[in-house]
Amino acid sequence: MADSFPFLETSVMKTGPGCGLSAGVFSFRSTGERRACRLLARKAGPALLPQAAAPSLRKAARRGRRRSPSRGWSAGGAGRGRSGRGAKGPRLPFSPPPGRAEGRAAAGAPLEEAGEADAGGIRRGGGGGGSSGSAGSTMPAKVCIVGSGNWGSAIAKIIGQNIQKSMKFDPIIKMWIFEETVNGRKLSDLINQDHENVKYLPGHKLPHNVVAIPNVRDAANGADILIFVIPHQFIPKICDDLKGHVKTGAIGISLIKGIEETPDGLKLISDIIREKLKIEVSVLMGANIANEVADEMFCETTIGCKNPDSGKLYKELMQTQNFRITVVDDCDTVELCGALKNIVAVGAGFCDGLGFGDNTKAAVIRLGLMEMISFAKLFCKGPVAIETFLESCGVADLITTCYGGRNRKVAEAFACGGKTIEELEKEMLNGQKLQGPQTSAEVYKILKQKKMVDRFPLFVNVYLICYQGKSVKEFITCLQNHPHHM
Ligand SMILES: NC(=O)c1ccc[n+]([C@@H]2O[C@H](COP(=O)([O-])OP(=O)(O)OC[C@H]3O[C@@H](n4cnc5c(N)ncnc54)[C@H](O)[C@@H]3O)[C@@H](O)[C@H]2O)c1
Repeated sequence: MADSFPFLETSVMKTGPGCGLSAGVFSFRSTGERRACRLLARKAGPALLPQAAAPSLRKAARRGRRRSPSRGWSAGGAGRGRSGRGAKGPRLPFSPPPGRAEGRAAAGAPLEEAGEADAGGIRRGGGGGGSSGSAGSTMPAKVCIVGSGNWGSAIAKIIGQNIQKSMKFDPIIKMWIFEETVNGRKLSDLINQDHENVKYLPGHKLPHNVVAIPNVRDAANGADILIFVIPHQFIPKICDDLKGHVKTGAIGISLIKGIEETPDGLKLISDIIREKLKIEVSVLMGANIANEVADEMFCETTIGCKNPDSGKLYKELMQTQNFRITVVDDCDTVELCGALKNIVAVGAGFCDGLGFGDNTKAAVIRLGLMEMISFAKLFCKGPVAIETFLESCGVADLITTCYGGRNRKVAEAFACGGKTIEELEKEMLNGQKLQGPQTSAEVYKILKQKKMVDRFPLFVNVYLICYQGKSVKEFITCLQNHPHHM
């Protein structure tokens, strides 16, 4: 049962405050958790419930078993109360899309204005395929988070809470975890038993319906929505592992900031996922330092999504009062912003380490922004809307990263001298990964190939300083003849 109903298992078996057994009575931290557990009990049926299960859960399970599939509680399915009435069998809120919906005419225009989507479910035309039920039917969307680092855990906290309030999503979130041992225990056990990712997001309890799973295929099995949130260097391998194991009609969204340089030139991370897994892929990028998001401090983010229905669904899945989402269809620009700003942040860190003041740092940020725009115009397949740079994924993310992020911090230490980027990454980040230096190396190769290094002095010199032994003291000099001053 642990495999099928891990949340129920953890919730039911664990003792102690917050969730579990207390004198034979279950207590939950929220009504959402109680509801999720009741729903699972209905799915499980009385026979599969632990003996210790509370009377209310056993009652729910009996009630669930009595309901016929036409009431929405099929024995093996994931139907929920308000769906699935009538002779045609279960009506379920998720059905996969036939393919990418046509984007809106103007790149960068917020999709919410379009008013084209229904209440957030994904419509399917004929031939949608997949195992989510018959055409026209819908079922709660199962969500899998591929990744469990700092940002992966913060987004799991939001999604785990949000889905408890929505009928559109299955109550369990499976979260793939790259297994490691922390304080003598498996990190997956720590998350499933103590509900905290003590290594990557210490001090924050994760909702109990977030279940860590160390095998990526098991985690993604049956998922309708895949959320990719791992350091970008690991994405090709993970996608190869997942190939052939993703549900037909599933959709994905990448929260990953980075790009890949390939023999064919620049590749966005969303392109890699799309090509390898053959699924629709959107992106989410913004001024979102994970710890602050997890602390529920107000911020914004941008989703780049060409399918208005998917955009609405993602918004329902992830938006909160303190995490406000704008959806635009200028996906490639959104994604490039997320990757390139990390290079600028390295430059900002150099600036801090060298002891320059606020004016200099502001100039570095502005020149970095100009290079981001020029790069996007050169390399995006579709049109590039300047307004996209005014969204959270653009100028806001650039500012936050240049003041608060790990790339800035490590670059500042690098400029103070004595250690390589790799040494500092190991020493300062406790297993977290830097993105800026590696992205600068990928960008450099692309610019060299296209004979354009002279047009991007900031990007190029970050690379030369990080990897080619150029003195960090020359960083500002390199910017004095910037093409934007000529
Ligand atoms: N942390 C943030 O504030 C933040 C905010 C927005 C976006 N992002 C982006 O999210 C993505 C993920 O970053 P994060 O902060 O969640 O991760 P992280 O840097 O905190 O953690 C590293 C992760 O990589 C995993 N890992 C280590 N070796 C691995 C391997 N061989 N294969 C697969 N995984 C391995 C670790 O288990 C861990 O989960 C990055 O692209 C990052 O740029 C991060």
